[in-house]
Amino acid sequence: MVHNKQRLVVQVKGLRSEMEKILKNKILDKKARVGIIGLGYVGLPLAVEFAKKGFEVLGIDTDYHKVDLLGKKRSYILDVTSEDVRAVTEAGLFSATSDYRVISKLDVVVICVPTPLRKTKEPDISYIINATEKIAAHRKKVQLIILESTTYPGTTDEVVLPILERSGAGLDRDFFLAFSPERIDPGNIKFKTRDIPKIVGGVTKKSTELSRIFYSQIIKSVMPVSSSKSAEMVKLLENTFRSVNIGLVNEIALMCHKLGIDVWEIIEAAKTKPFGFMPFYPGPGLGGHCIPIDPLYLSWKARMHGFEARFIELADMVNSYMPEYVVKRIADILNKFRKPLLGSKVLIVGISYKRDVNDIRESPSIEIIKLLEKEGTDVSYFDPYVNELKVDGKLFTSIKWDSKAFKNKDCVVVVTDHSSIDYEEILKNSKVIFDTRNIYRNIKTKNLERL
Ligand SMILES: NC(=O)c1ccc[n+]([C@@H]2O[C@H](COP(=O)([O-])OP(=O)(O)OC[C@H]3O[C@@H](n4cnc5c(N)ncnc54)[C@H](O)[C@@H]3O)[C@@H](O)[C@H]2O)c1
Repeated sequence: MVHNKQRLVVQVKGLRSEMEKILKNKILDKKARVGIIGLGYVGLPLAVEFAKKGFEVLGIDTDYHKVDLLGKKRSYILDVTSEDVRAVTEAGLFSATSDYRVISKLDVVVICVPTPLRKTKEPDISYIINATEKIAAHRKKVQLIILESTTYPGTTDEVVLPILERSGAGLDRDFFLAFSPERIDPGNIKFKTRDIPKIVGGVTKKSTELSRIFYSQIIKSVMPVSSSKSAEMVKLLENTFRSVNIGLVNEIALMCHKLGIDVWEIIEAAKTKPFGFMPFYPGPGLGGHCIPIDPLYLSWKARMHGFEARFIELADMVNSYMPEYVVKRIADILNKFRKPLLGSKVLIVGISYKRDVNDIRESPSIEIIKLLEKEGTDVSYFDPYVNELKVDGKLFTSIKWDSKAFKNKDCVVVVTDHSSIDYEEILKNSKVIFDTRNIYRNIKTKNLERL
């Protein structure tokens, strides 16, 4: 009897390692079917990268408009060209759908859905939960499931794992589970998905190893860490590091203005030190889906364990104040021309949250426009990447590029320094400019003020 039971255990173990081997070989042979859930700034480049390497990739997105555009072989992400989408689609290696039933055909599933904050600044992981529940409902064969959405430490093993197990599926038997943070930098032409080293942390050792093999197919350097929690924490350390350092340099900028010192000159000089200093630059405020949000995921989780993350909270306070500070400086500048904010014509140059991208999420320009509107300022904007913008229900349209457009403004504010803009033309034609990005470095004229 005991003998039979032992034999059964050995057989089951053998079967499991056989299934693992089959999945591993499928990945190595590029025969694994890959599913990417969420085809946004993170998911679409990743999907195209795997397809370019010869994997059959199925993209799943709940946004019908995106699925429809991809069906027409058109990209809506600046970092992915429509030519790339066309090439992989026509090669039969990429297609997009909103139908989760395709999950049953996949060998590897990567989740790249949004992780925003609620109004209370608490994590909103409902997109992850929703995607996982749908995977659990449709999964059939042995699969490797990887979460890429940035989130607090513990999401993969405390939230995702129980949902998958609830369907009766067993870890290391029916599925493998890992977290791998995405480090993509939209608009960065030097570092694309394939060039950025990848971190992987599985809920089990086997999950880590399978994920390492999976990403090694498209990325040169893949570094495993001890657990999914560690992998989640790596991403939050990276973004907290940025947020805190930007907060520090923003505070230094506010201080320098009071002291009559040019903060940009100070940073240029300090960065000549070949060790122990890394330059960060002040600006009109944080934006995008990462730096203003991710550290607050971490501080929330820490608070659940009775720990106050003071650096994170302080950096958030300083960084969140920057749009208000920009408006205060605009008021000071107008004041010198005997003009109030009320009724003055202010043109914002650059709406997206950073240079050369069309992403407006959390952009400080939006907060600046809101605050100016509240003061009764006549606000307009120019952005080659953003044609239209709704702020508090009011629709704004980018002005057409025309030197006359600058002439009749009381103040032009450079909020985002897109590289395609002719800043000299703006300088020649504007009464006064407030430059929050130091685009006019080395230029000293009376009609120019810097952050
Ligand atoms: N944007 C970045 O630069 C960046 C960089 C690193 C990490 N991240 C992280 O990656 C994640 C995704 O960010 P993003 O910028 O790609 O977001 P995004 O909004 O551009 O894309 C997310 C996509 O997921 C889709 N979606 C939402 N719920 C879904 C569901 N249940 N099933 C299928 N699709 C669903 C949305 O329609 C959208 O197309 C976030 O956690 C973010 O913090 C983003």
